[in-house]
Amino acid sequence: MSELAKIELDGKVYEFPVVVGTENEKAIDISKLRDTTGYITLDTGYKNTGATKSSITFLDGEEGILHYRGYSIEELAEKATFLEVAYLLLNGELPTQSELDSFGSSIKKHTLVHEDMKRFFEAYPAKAHPMGVLSSMICSLSTFYPESLDPHRSKEMKELTMHRLLAKMPTLAAWAYKNSIRHPFMYPNNDYDYCSNFLHMMYAMPTEEYKVDPVVAAALNKLLILHADHEQNCSTSTVRIVGSSQANLYATISAGISALWGPLHGGANQEVIEMLEQIHNDGGDVDKWVAKAKDKEDPFRLMGFGHRVYKNFDPRAKIIKKACDDVLEKMGINDPMLAIAKRLEQVALEDEYFKARNLYPNVDFYSGIIYKAIGIPTEMFTVMFAIGRLPGWISQWKEMTENKEPIGRPRQIYTGYTSRSFVEITKR
Ligand code: SDX
Repeated sequence: MSELAKIELDGKVYEFPVVVGTENEKAIDISKLRDTTGYITLDTGYKNTGATKSSITFLDGEEGILHYRGYSIEELAEKATFLEVAYLLLNGELPTQSELDSFGSSIKKHTLVHEDMKRFFEAYPAKAHPMGVLSSMICSLSTFYPESLDPHRSKEMKELTMHRLLAKMPTLAAWAYKNSIRHPFMYPNNDYDYCSNFLHMMYAMPTEEYKVDPVVAAALNKLLILHADHEQNCSTSTVRIVGSSQANLYATISAGISALWGPLHGGANQEVIEMLEQIHNDGGDVDKWVAKAKDKEDPFRLMGFGHRVYKNFDPRAKIIKKACDDVLEKMGINDPMLAIAKRLEQVALEDEYFKARNLYPNVDFYSGIIYKAIGIPTEMFTVMFAIGRLPGWISQWKEMTENKEPIGRPRQIYTGYTSRSFVEITKR
């Protein structure tokens, strides 16, 4: 394979280095393109553009492969805890028992949030979408830790901020939910593990004993692992570019939460359940809705289907689909939405439109069914995605800062008016 790419422009041949990754992915390094040729590249939506080199997550969209630091998502989802995976993403290696213990106890030390923040929640209307609350609350954490405003102040401060975020995100997420139903907030109870603590803050009441169902905690652990990182997706790219301005990490993660909220990205899991309910309430005629999804005149899309990278099954969707059957069976739940989802998948995968476009179920297609089964309200689905994706966002930010990457600032091709003189208002 050649180590140089040759580009001929205006009769002149230019050479640019070829970069090959450890999984044999290839790129043309065009970092000197404009300086040497005066040209830039144009790639709306960055479908063909690599923004960075990273050693965190590997995806193979054609083969449906997803690895975190070389470990397959199938093994991690089956055998690891979410905090183990968070440690792996952050540090590059699976922790020893003592490393995991000290990581876990550092996280536990910071699960509380400043009491003043409770007043912020009271100012939100009950119908406030929890993603809007969470994004604001995470950014507001920066106001309580002014020493964190310089993300590069010290290694210790950087680590403390990362651990504070991992520790406080579940607390703030659960409180956003409790606030929306005007129930009293439940404080974190550090006798619980990470997932059980979140469930306790979500569902416990001060007036009665709450027992965490191990089936629910295990399902949540698996779902958070499956969402933990996904290389340079929309919200992670947002985190990298906001972080590249050396904004503090709280503001940077808040930006990632906002990007994730979009229905084409993390917001799709809420849209999928609402779509399944719409199909169910409309009589369950799956063929009708698949036809709508194919109709260019119809804005309806099959939410939870399609992916920028996976042109085969999203491996996470496969794992979640199987977990759906297990969790619903163990909990004795018969959710008609699961049957509709499976039928929808079957019809779509046999349909030429979807096959021709390599549209398969993605991570969001089945996740809402499990969230619903474990009692998570629909509006909290994307918040769950954010809790899962947090270690990925932080790890990618950490890698970007450690590699001292420059501030992100893409170029453009201008297509507006060429120079013209101002016209007095009386002459317009
Ligand atoms: C996530 O990037 C990541 O890694 C994201 C994520 C992560 O872990 O971070 O995996 C999480 O965001 C998953 C995706 C969740 N979004 C949805 O489920 C929303 C529905 N899907 C899409 O809108 C769409 O598939 C995207 C946004 C996911 C991908 O869009 P692309 O890559 O820009 O592809 P496209 O919109 O250009 O679609 C290509 C063709 C088009 O048809 P033609 O113009 O070629 O005729 O496929 C069609 C689209 O109309 N198409 C769909 C469709 N998705 C694409 N048609 C019907 N239903 C769909 N869902």
